[in-house]
Amino acid sequence: MDPKALETEAQSAIAAAQTPAELEDARVRYLGRKSELKQALREVRDRESGMTLNAVRERLEAAFAEREEALRGAELVRVLGEESADVTLPGEAPPRGHYHLLTQIRREVEDVFLGLGYEVVDGDEVEDTYHLFDALNMPPGHVTRSPLHTLFLNGDVVLRTETSASQIRVMESREPPVYMVSLGRVYRRDTIEPTNYPIFHQVEGLAVAEGITVADLKGTVLHLCRALFGEDAQVRFITDFFPFTEPSLGVAVSCFLCGGEGCRTCKFTGWIELAGSGLVDPNVLRNVGYDPDEVSGFAFGIGLERIAMLRHGVPDIRLFWENDLRFLEQF
Ligand code: DAH
Repeated sequence: MDPKALETEAQSAIAAAQTPAELEDARVRYLGRKSELKQALREVRDRESGMTLNAVRERLEAAFAEREEALRGAELVRVLGEESADVTLPGEAPPRGHYHLLTQIRREVEDVFLGLGYEVVDGDEVEDTYHLFDALNMPPGHVTRSPLHTLFLNGDVVLRTETSASQIRVMESREPPVYMVSLGRVYRRDTIEPTNYPIFHQVEGLAVAEGITVADLKGTVLHLCRALFGEDAQVRFITDFFPFTEPSLGVAVSCFLCGGEGCRTCKFTGWIELAGSGLVDPNVLRNVGYDPDEVSGFAFGIGLERIAMLRHGVPDIRLFWENDLRFLEQF
């Protein structure tokens, strides 16, 4: 047997094999137990030809392994199709969520006030009646003190009905000046309706310093409204009443849907009532140990759901709580 001729023949058989089965046939023929090479190896007597034959066997084994690899790759491409075997393609991105619409608006409002140098403060959802009612100058017989209105937990511990208690907490803890907003959930014993839900969100704002006037309040809410509803927004005040402000002012924003001409959203008035506000009542300042002769302040409160419903035409407040992706994904 001529080892060189045998190797050449085997190499071309390897190269000619088009499938793993054909390659296996060639392996049996050239490297199998009964192959010419294996037989020659068994019969070899001298070192020289043993080394030659073993070198041939090694080279052929390597060639078989290499060809096998190539054929397996080709087989994969054939079965999966050219493209899906392209391992350089990026993987499929897993679906990714995003913030709830109310969280988005909450962050927008926080950003607006952080930009004005305000502090964002967390308030507690569980409050006591002193901070929620007494300190906020609510008279003893005020309707929100009733258990028909407010969720009492235990004695004078309640779920807050408004974020305004955070004003008291912040003022109690520091000296003026104070510039803060506090955003979060509030609870009321309300019936569920398209515009009413027993849990909702408010943003509370408070500024107390020397010489603060209604002009500061108006400039601030105008700035907020322009950030939320567009640069053309106008604001106006209407009379209102809250125990903790004097004077109390309702804030109305020009209708951003009709531009003031009148439409269903603004009930054909051109204006949309958005917020409660006013100058902090001197009694409230006294309750926290501030001197109303030295400092004055403004405060305001806005419902986040209301902002979202107006701006995005959301028809029913319950949509914010149902976590239906068909709704949430739109924002
Ligand atoms: N707390 C009021 C409410 O829930 C909203 C409000 C009105 C907050 C006037 C204020 C304010 O800070 O000055 O209806």
